[in-house]
Amino acid sequence: MAARGKFITLEGGEGAGKSTQAHLLADWLTEKGISVAATREPGGTPSAEEIRSLLVTGETGRWDPLTETLLHYAARREHVARLILPTLESGQWIICDRFVDSTTAYQGYGQGVALATIAKLRQTVLGDFKPDLTLILDVEPETRCTRTAGRPGTEDRYERMNEAFHERVRAGFHAIAAAEPGRCVVIRADQAVEAVSAAIRETVSERLNRE
Ligand code: TMP
Repeated sequence: MAARGKFITLEGGEGAGKSTQAHLLADWLTEKGISVAATREPGGTPSAEEIRSLLVTGETGRWDPLTETLLHYAARREHVARLILPTLESGQWIICDRFVDSTTAYQGYGQGVALATIAKLRQTVLGDFKPDLTLILDVEPETRCTRTAGRPGTEDRYERMNEAFHERVRAGFHAIAAAEPGRCVVIRADQAVEAVSAAIRETVSERLNRE
């Protein structure tokens, strides 16, 4: 039987460049001969993508924060049960653009849902399942604003939340990284795309023993 694949998550606030970096990392691992799939949250399966559209569009205040937390976890349950676990069990690696830390940072630190409530929900939905490595891409507020200004599309519900919210989210990611240094690495993402991807490759090589 194939060894279980590694599960890598990319996290961070808006405009950190996660999606670009997720694809560059997937390409690099593929070149190394590793079979890898890239996915995202909220979403990743057809039903979870339906839940995504409820979360990322519309009025900023359209959900009570706990309802919103439950929706993220409902989407996550589908994604983990139907795609992530079976894929890892088959031996393939997964790179996921956002995962549990986004709920802690956005709904917990950002929207004020009790961290203990989110932790209980996580345990109920996922048990002890967690990423092998989490890369937290960190950018200064100025970079976030420049990168998100004029972005096309309607999936901007969180982007439209106020500056104080985004500052709490960023502080939340730093707190998560400080609490779990064995799993999380903060990557400075204000640099050029190639410099960020080089830092990511180095971290993945060190942490997951890939040359
Ligand atoms: P994306 O822009 O990275 O695709 O993510 C969609 C938005 O969803 C992003 O603004 C962050 C937000 N989000 C949460 O608030 N909680 C979560 O648990 C996840 C996965 C995303």
